[in-house]
Amino acid sequence: MTADRPDVTEALAEVADIARPAAADGTVASYIPALAHADPSRFGIALVDLDGTEHAIGDVDVPFPIQSISKVFSLVLAMQKAEAHDGVAEELWSRVGREPSGDPYNSLVQLERERGIPRNPMINAGALVIDDVLFGHCDDAPRATLELLELLAGDRLSVDEDVRRSEVGALHRNRALANLLADFGNLHHAVDDVLDNYVHECAIAMTARQLARAIRFLANDGIDPATGTRILSRELARRVAAIMLTCGTYDAAGEFAFNVGLPCKSGVAGGIVGIVPRHMGLCVWSPPLDRTGNSLAGRVALHELAERLDLSIV
Ligand code: DON
Repeated sequence: MTADRPDVTEALAEVADIARPAAADGTVASYIPALAHADPSRFGIALVDLDGTEHAIGDVDVPFPIQSISKVFSLVLAMQKAEAHDGVAEELWSRVGREPSGDPYNSLVQLERERGIPRNPMINAGALVIDDVLFGHCDDAPRATLELLELLAGDRLSVDEDVRRSEVGALHRNRALANLLADFGNLHHAVDDVLDNYVHECAIAMTARQLARAIRFLANDGIDPATGTRILSRELARRVAAIMLTCGTYDAAGEFAFNVGLPCKSGVAGGIVGIVPRHMGLCVWSPPLDRTGNSLAGRVALHELAERLDLSIV
């Protein structure tokens, strides 16, 4: 960011004016029936600087299911286990790759072709493997993800039970992915247990403000700036950010790098988190999605924000 950075409040207002109308061309996710009830006019942007300064516009204090944004935090937990125990890193990276998939987040085709090794931890198959690894290293894996998020957000959080139940009833594709993984020997725990954990983390409800706070430690070399707690080593924090940049928005990751230039992670309820290394954590929320499953207005907002505040890291 440059010294003559424009007024952030003014920039947020301009960005919201441009991005909000873009939601009209998107579609709220409905393959998880409870998500279809989301109000398409919801819109919010929260920026939280490393020094704690917060800038926000719109619905930043309304909770929504974090969905795939949880994949970043389960990867962080797995990385913590890798730091604490020999052999976990080797296990992790032999079971899941680090390349962008170029395919939809829930695609079965690539997994079959690549013999049960998911391309990366940000797509559904990769997250199922990460959850399976966590089962082997946590007493209560679903609780561990929730507690990590509570620590980082500085708030008590809950699971949206309607969304969780609704997703349990619409698991055909994820169940197919989990079964394929198991068939290739890349799932070591029961398919149902791994799916339960996965659905639980996707249904955690958070606000854009809480998410912007929670992701901030990745912009701060792995240390939560609110408490000074080291969450990950600098090296591993950098690696999580690298995976967000290359894989966090699925088959639109190239487009995001081109137009936004920040490590980001999206969720199918319309949230997108991002980091500006050494500056801030941020989150945008607008439920209508584009065809790649990323928030349409969120995508426009991030582009406009990155331009106005000179945020791109590339
Ligand atoms: O497994 C699913 O399909 C959802 N629970 C999460 C997918 C998701 O958030 C993809 N993001 N854009």
